[in-house]
Amino acid sequence: PELHNIINSYDFEEVAARTASKKAFAFYSTAATDCWTRDMNNSMYKRIWFRPRVMRDVAEVDTSGSMLGIPLRVPLFICPTGLAKMINPEGEKALARAAKSTGILEVISTVSSHPHADILREAPDYPFLFQLYVNKDRAKAAELIQHATALGVRAIFLTVDAAGRGKRESDERIKVDEVVINPVTGQRAANDKKGGGLTRTMGSYIDQSMSWKDIAWIRSLTDVPIVLKGITNAEDAKLAMQHKVAGILVSNHGGRNLDFSPPAILVLLELHKRCPEVFDAMEVYVDGGIRRGGDILKALCLGAKAVGVGRPFLYALNYGTEGAEHLVEILKDEMESVMKLIGIKSLDEVHPGLVNTFDVDHL
Ligand code: FNR
Repeated sequence: PELHNIINSYDFEEVAARTASKKAFAFYSTAATDCWTRDMNNSMYKRIWFRPRVMRDVAEVDTSGSMLGIPLRVPLFICPTGLAKMINPEGEKALARAAKSTGILEVISTVSSHPHADILREAPDYPFLFQLYVNKDRAKAAELIQHATALGVRAIFLTVDAAGRGKRESDERIKVDEVVINPVTGQRAANDKKGGGLTRTMGSYIDQSMSWKDIAWIRSLTDVPIVLKGITNAEDAKLAMQHKVAGILVSNHGGRNLDFSPPAILVLLELHKRCPEVFDAMEVYVDGGIRRGGDILKALCLGAKAVGVGRPFLYALNYGTEGAEHLVEILKDEMESVMKLIGIKSLDEVHPGLVNTFDVDHL
């Protein structure tokens, strides 16, 4: 279908399922074991209701927001995802152009399929964020942190939920052929006795010995603000506060690592109950299963400063930069419509009283 016939984020997925290579779709869509967390990430948003207010003059609404002081047209970021090239040779470069033209942010993955500097050249003078996997070889990790700093990154999203690798079965089942997993060395993926899992081959360098004291180590290498990606409960949110990071991204990695890790929206509710002070101490972001403008509003009402969208951007890349731009505009339009219908003109007006969480409060 032509791009103008794509009217929601699910349409992109449906087209990708039919037209992308089997391996690309398997790698993108897969999640750990039963894929329960992946599926519930989205379903849980459907159990949250709005408490719409009426008669509040919403003729003009404004979706703008910010992250760490960076103004955004929509408080949305493209989640870091490796191997964007599998669906479109322009990969993360096309996403960088779309982020700039639509006024959102891209979080560039450590395992992006273009060299980081090449991606940035596509959006000159525009802010970007960087996701960090810490290499077991700490000298290499230090070099990467300093490289990202030198490139002008505005925040480092340290992924903390990858101490083990998720068993992603549809990725294992489909053999790999010509997938380059390191754009710098040209290293290719290979099949082995366990299958064709890109996750396993790509993730083998990640340091599983990371601990809270490593935040000080990162700080010794860079002044760039640190955001912890992959917090899922109040205890770890409190530790994040004690370590004075700039933010946390409440995330279960799109259900790709620990299956039965809780959906982000439930974690937000837990934070409200058990450490509400976190929302004042730092910026809280969420990702996982956000597919509608209404999902974005629900997350913002429950305290998120901005939200991340992962897979839909990869599926939208089927249509290159324009596809990713179209996805942002779809989400923005949906947000505007919901904002009017719940009775707010700007995102400064969001608050928990605009949602009814009765269905999920005792989960
Ligand atoms: C990811 N994710 C991820 N996270 C990360 O910290 N570093 C990475 O390199 C990747 N790579 C990656 C590849 C693919 C194909 C996917 C789908 C996801 C997780 C990602 O940043 C994010 O947390 C989830 O994708 C959010 O969920 P949704 O929006 O995909 O449901």
